[in-house]
Parts: sequence; structure tokens; C-alpha cells
Amino acid sequence: MKFHIVTFGCQMNDADSAWLELALTRRGWEHVPEEQARVFVVNTCSVREKPEHKVYSLLGRLKRYCEGRDGFICVGGCVAQQVGQEFWRRFPRVRLVFGPDGLASVPDSLEKLMARPGLRISLLDFADSYQERDFSRGPGKAPIQAYVSIMQGCDNFCAYCIVPYTRGRQKSRSSSNILQECSELVQAGTREITLLGQNVNSYGLDGEGDGLSFARLLEEICKIPGVKRVRFTTSHPKDLAPEVIAAFERFPNLCPALHLPLQSGSNSVLKRMGRRYTKEKYLDLVNRLRQTRPDMVLSTDIIVGFPGETEADFSQTLDLVRKVAFDSSFSFKYSDRPGVRAASFADKVPEEIKGFRLDLLQREQDVFTERSLQNLVGSTRECLVEGRSLKPGTPDETLWKGREPGGRIVNFSGPARDLTGELIPVTITQAKKHSVFGEVGKSYD
Ligand code: 5AD
Ligand code: SF4
Repeated sequence: MKFHIVTFGCQMNDADSAWLELALTRRGWEHVPEEQARVFVVNTCSVREKPEHKVYSLLGRLKRYCEGRDGFICVGGCVAQQVGQEFWRRFPRVRLVFGPDGLASVPDSLEKLMARPGLRISLLDFADSYQERDFSRGPGKAPIQAYVSIMQGCDNFCAYCIVPYTRGRQKSRSSSNILQECSELVQAGTREITLLGQNVNSYGLDGEGDGLSFARLLEEICKIPGVKRVRFTTSHPKDLAPEVIAAFERFPNLCPALHLPLQSGSNSVLKRMGRRYTKEKYLDLVNRLRQTRPDMVLSTDIIVGFPGETEADFSQTLDLVRKVAFDSSFSFKYSDRPGVRAASFADKVPEEIKGFRLDLLQREQDVFTERSLQNLVGSTRECLVEGRSLKPGTPDETLWKGREPGGRIVNFSGPARDLTGELIPVTITQAKKHSVFGEVGKSYD
């Protein structure tokens, strides 16, 4: 059976799709380009308005593919959880809808759908505990960089956020299963592990955990023999424990990179967002992180135009962005999401003001991003090679793509032999807009 998966949204969705692809491949299914597939899986994101719209336009296109070849569509992830069986009315070619907790049953359900052409299946129930999936890999090679999920859902209910409604309450995964999956990956060739969860710092605090804190789990993972790099995302500033900050000093294989969503630099906006930290607390965390690891690469998320955000509030966000000098940031215009608290807040900020603020913020950030990349020039950084670069090399040089410990993309010229998966020191010679360029020493020929 030929299938194709399209993924929108966060790394959690990427990891879910990667698991589904593996699970179906193990059953003899074949992942093919869109034009050749008969079964389509769309893993959706509803965190903001824009990604949700993209899902609907894709479904329109896939509908046409299905008609010519008796195909069908499965919609999973956050939009599926939210819209549910309504999809069947709007898109008759959709025969399976599944929420984040239904993923483990998708391979069996797909086989049932193949056997019974009239059938439709809905997997939208929330589970009370983390839904373990079969993570055995079979004979295939493990990815060089792997994502490992450590929890599902979120309990924070930030006023703008739909995630607690689409992914349900926080459910921690058993630490022994996490450790087993990580060890098996490393044995099968994985060199970098990224631990994933909506709020990894509150791992184990939901009653589903087994007593191990996130800091202790991280320690166990960093100590797995052969694991070259460890990362984790996403962190909530209110839960970032001193022991986690200390881990950046204790474990050389814990990469000096942290995504720490700020959302706003105004205390009154943070309060209305329900974030439960102040800008002073945030700045204190940044100082402690940089004292622990001066080479820490910090990225963040910022929302502009949250209901009631004044010019003065926005200036405080700009001020904090300047104070922290983030290495990179993702910024978004606030959009109402169905059912969240902020949707009912008064004082909505007009669209053109949101656009204006976003533009100002992004222009400000560009300067810091550029400076951060420029600072790499002249240094030699250990890069994990992901594969050949998409850019063509000259006849006597091959271009490779890797990442330095801070997570920045490094394109570099090097020998023609396959370097994929190797850790190589690369001397950075040039900064581009979103990446840097470098070269390896002669000893790697
Ligand atoms: N509007 C705009 N941005 C949002 N985010 C989450 N919900 C909304 C919303 N309703 C942003 C936050 C979060 C990121 C994943 O998406 O910045 O950290
Ligand atoms: Fe959403 Fe807040 Fe949970 Fe992050 S911590 S997923 S922003 S509710």
C-alpha cells in the first residue's frame, strides 16, 4: 500500500509522523511522493490561525488526487481533535480522524479501512495516561538525530493557547521506557537525541510520572554511553529548575542551546496571559543560564498584539528583546483560537497594528540574529554532519550540511567521502542570513 504523510506544526507532530511512517513501513507499506499515493495522512496544527488554514487548502488539493485513484485521507493532530467528525461532512474522502492520543491505534485502523471500503473510524478520545507506542525499529538504521517524546499534553492553560484542549492534560511517559528507547536509538547509530514535550520542565509532576524529575531524567540520558548530543524542547520559564541550568555545566554532551518562550516583555500582559513569571524573573534565568554556559544559544517565541497590549507594553517587549539579545526568535500576531480564555477578552488589537508591531520586532531581531551568526566567524565548531548540502559544490569540492552545538546550520566544503553522521570540527568563514559557511581542515581528506 502506497501512502504519503504531510506534517504541519511543531516537533511533536514531526516525531509523531516519523513514528507512523516507521510503523507502516514495518507492516510492508511504502512511503511515496504525493503524486503516487493512495492513502494520505495529514498531521495538523491548530496553534494559530495560519497553520489551520493551510490544512484546509491542502485537503482541497488531496481530494482531487483521491478521486482519480480510489484513495482516502486520514486527518490527525490538533485540528482533527478540534474539528473531529465534522471533517466527514466537509471532506467525504476523509475516512479516519485521530487526535494525539489516538496515534498508537492508527496503523491497525488503516488496515481495517483497507479491508472495509465503507468504514470510517474516529480516534478522538483522550487517554488518562501516556499512550506508549511500539518503538522497536527493526533492522533499519536509526536516524542520526532522533526525537524522543517524554510526555503528552499540557496543564498550563495560557490564556491564548489551544494546546491543553487539543492535546489534553499533561501525561508523563515512564522513565524506563524513555531510557530504553534512547539506549536502543544510540545502539542503532543515533548520535543526537532531542527530548520532546509541551513543557518538558514539568515532566513527572502530573501524577503519571514515576518519581523522577526532569533534571534527573536529563542526567540519566546524558550518561547513556555513546550519546554525543542531547537537547530538549520546549521549556516554560516558570518551571526551569536550577538543577536543569546546572546540567548545562555538568554534561558536556548537553548542547548549549535553549528555546525559552518569552511571549511578552510586559508584566501586565504576562499576567493576563497567565504565564506566571515576570520579566525580571525571565531576565534572571537568562543571566544564570549565561553564567553557567557563556556560549548558550537562546531562542524564544513572542506574541504581538495580545488583547489589551498597549504601545507601552509593546515597547517593554522590544526593550527585553534588546536586553536579552536572543540569537533567534519566532514571533507571531495574536490570533483568537476557539474556546481559549483570551478569545473572550475585550480590547482586541487591530490587525494593522499587530502587523506594524510584528514588523518592528522582526527587524529588531534580525540585527541580533545577524550579529549572533557573525560572532561565529573565525571560530572552529564541532559539527554533526546531516548530509550533503542542497547547494551545488564546485567540481573539486563537496558541500556538506551540519549543525554546530548551538543548533545553527553550518554549510561547509569538505571531502567527497560520505561524512554523514560524523562529528567534525569546522572553521566558520562567513555568516549568511540564517546560516553560516565554513570549511574543514585538510586532516579530514
Ligand atoms: N496566537 C498567536 N500565537 C500563538 N502561539 C500560541 N497560541 C497563539 C495564538 N493564539 C504561539 C506562542 C507559542 C507558539 C508555539 O505559538 O508563541 O509559544
Ligand atoms: Fe500552550 Fe502555555 Fe501549554 Fe505552552 S505552556 S502549550 S503556551 S498552554
